[in-house]
Amino acid sequence: MIAKQYNRYTVTAALPYANGPKHIGHLAGAYIPADVYVRYLRLTGNDVVFVCGSDEHGTAIPNQALKENTTPKAIIDKYDSLIRDCFGKLGMSFDIYHRTSETIHHQTSQEIFLTLYNKGLLTEEVSEQYFDDEAKVFLADRYIVGTCPKCGHTNAFGDQCEKCGSTLSPRELINPKSTLSGKAPVLKETKHWYLPLEKYEPWLRDWILKSHQQDWKPNVYGQCKSWIEAGLQPRAMTRDLDWGIKVPLPDAAGKVLYVWFDAPIGYISATRALFEEVATGNLKYATPHRNFTNVKPADWKKYWQAEDTRLIHFIGKDNIVFHCIIFPVMLHAAGEFIVPDNVPANEFMNLEGDKMSTSRGWSIEMHEYLADFPDKPDVLRYALLTNLPEAKDSEFTWKDFQAKNNNELVAILGNFVNRAVVLTQKYFDGVLPTRKALTDVDGKALAELKQYPALIGDSIETFRFREATANLMDLARVGNKYLAETEPWKLAKTDLDRVGTILNIALQIAGTLAIVSEPFLPFTSRKLKNILNVGDMTWSIAGNSDLIPAGAKLQEAPLLFEKIEDSVIDQQIKKLMDTKRAVELSQQPVEPAKAEISFDDFSKMDIRIGKILKAERVEKSKKLLKLQVDTGIDVRTVMSGIAEHFAPEDILGKQVTLLVNLAPRKIMGVESQGMILMASDKDGSLKLLSPSGDVVPGSQVS
Ligand code: 2FM
Ligand code: ZN
Repeated sequence: MIAKQYNRYTVTAALPYANGPKHIGHLAGAYIPADVYVRYLRLTGNDVVFVCGSDEHGTAIPNQALKENTTPKAIIDKYDSLIRDCFGKLGMSFDIYHRTSETIHHQTSQEIFLTLYNKGLLTEEVSEQYFDDEAKVFLADRYIVGTCPKCGHTNAFGDQCEKCGSTLSPRELINPKSTLSGKAPVLKETKHWYLPLEKYEPWLRDWILKSHQQDWKPNVYGQCKSWIEAGLQPRAMTRDLDWGIKVPLPDAAGKVLYVWFDAPIGYISATRALFEEVATGNLKYATPHRNFTNVKPADWKKYWQAEDTRLIHFIGKDNIVFHCIIFPVMLHAAGEFIVPDNVPANEFMNLEGDKMSTSRGWSIEMHEYLADFPDKPDVLRYALLTNLPEAKDSEFTWKDFQAKNNNELVAILGNFVNRAVVLTQKYFDGVLPTRKALTDVDGKALAELKQYPALIGDSIETFRFREATANLMDLARVGNKYLAETEPWKLAKTDLDRVGTILNIALQIAGTLAIVSEPFLPFTSRKLKNILNVGDMTWSIAGNSDLIPAGAKLQEAPLLFEKIEDSVIDQQIKKLMDTKRAVELSQQPVEPAKAEISFDDFSKMDIRIGKILKAERVEKSKKLLKLQVDTGIDVRTVMSGIAEHFAPEDILGKQVTLLVNLAPRKIMGVESQGMILMASDKDGSLKLLSPSGDVVPGSQVS
């Protein structure tokens, strides 16, 4: 049980960078646990706001804009909308999903920066940083490449070598070059404002190391301890960049707030926006999942400043230092703000034996899952919940996903509900029968039922979501076992009263399942409530043996889950392999250019567009096709080594590019009078070079 008495909750889930799609590892890290927790808090009658939104600053955004040859604004709009849509479809019940590009966020961040500045808590430092003299900008670490001092890789970034994995600083690179101009950058003095973290060490020791040793997860506590003990350093809160929130000082042209300064403040601005939107009735980003009455815009303050508010941050492990050290120091130093009571960060989820990574093509993106399994958000939620990386890295496999669906959701939960409902339809016309005399088995089932809500709730309250999910499935097992022991289907002819008692009890179990499954499987919970013909119910009545009154009329029961076949899973595994291969190929370096030739050399080649009139295999050759080509000049025979890539019928009638003045050669006894030109792709496949529209045979290529 929660020790300290809190009157309200502010729950945050890490703001995802709007620089690309997000994958299921992100869901397992922060979003699904946060959503389960918040849904539970709401069901147990707590006052909670759940905030999230897009993180739209930092170099990640202009980087992606460069890659996609577009503007940073186009990037954030595109990915904010994609991520927002996926979260909605997966049932994330944020009260607001905001954006850090919004004015209210710029204002809030600047206000907090100025509070710290005006209190004299930021230190100013001038240092030398790499500057691109041609592009006239200071270079973020990622914009500098050079040779890695550790492994000699010639394309290491200013912050990291992707070959040997070393963390680097730009000054360590050998032969650094700007990725903007390709020129060597120069060192130039620049002023920045620093948060002197080391001054807060005593406070951090007291707050984290002394007070949270028991209740913070060991992985989180351990990371904080090592940071603190390694000695904290001043951290720059500003950057030389033109994408971000302007530093609100007169002598700070061309400088923006550090993304890790503004992003966590995004939680506060999202809360501000929530109350503003609810108070004015103008809901732009807010979708409140509770009744707010008599709301004033200033009510956000209670959720960030009142001591009886419990602040919880859900994040992945790479965000621990920002949420446990830097942001709390900012809040503490600014004054008036509460700091998190817990930060239940998860470790990482791997995929089929390797680290999940969008850029390496080894991931399952949320939008791709939803495109392939649009009616199965709960199956993904369940597969992830049963496998959350709570204490150590975990692993998602498609086979496990299938097993969780087929062997648990279908065979246990779905099967139990289906049997109870179908038997009630069959023997009682879908009307919930009354209970008569109870046997020991009945008493035992009802007693077990009563215990589960507290068991599940305790696990959720202590952030043990895997255990909570296992307990949920165990309750369905109790139901199945009860039906297996009582075998009502055998008694219908002899003792209908007994059948009624059994089904009444089974449906009470189903009723509790409808409530306690809501945090985990919100879509299924809704379906189950519809089947049982009940509305929303609070957690406090779960476990009750008279949850659904006798006489209630059940609705037609669609299956809650359906089996996933091997072929579907095999297809997903193939897709994963194919994507990885395609990314690997696209990242392979291309062949360097051949030695220079003169224009005269080039103009000696007579290249024309021809049309393939006939194509046939060549006896005793796997590789050769014998082609008749209309070159416009004549119709000639060309022997082409493409039989392993094209069947004759694939290329018949196609326009192709061919070299017509190549000296004839005898190949397998046939004179070949030219050469068809092909593009050979990195994977070894061949593609014809055809004009983008039909041209007359004989057209010259120059
Ligand atoms: O790691 C990330 O994806 C960051 N965008 C998380 C930010 S969390 C918070 F501080 F906003
Ligand atoms: Zn290296």
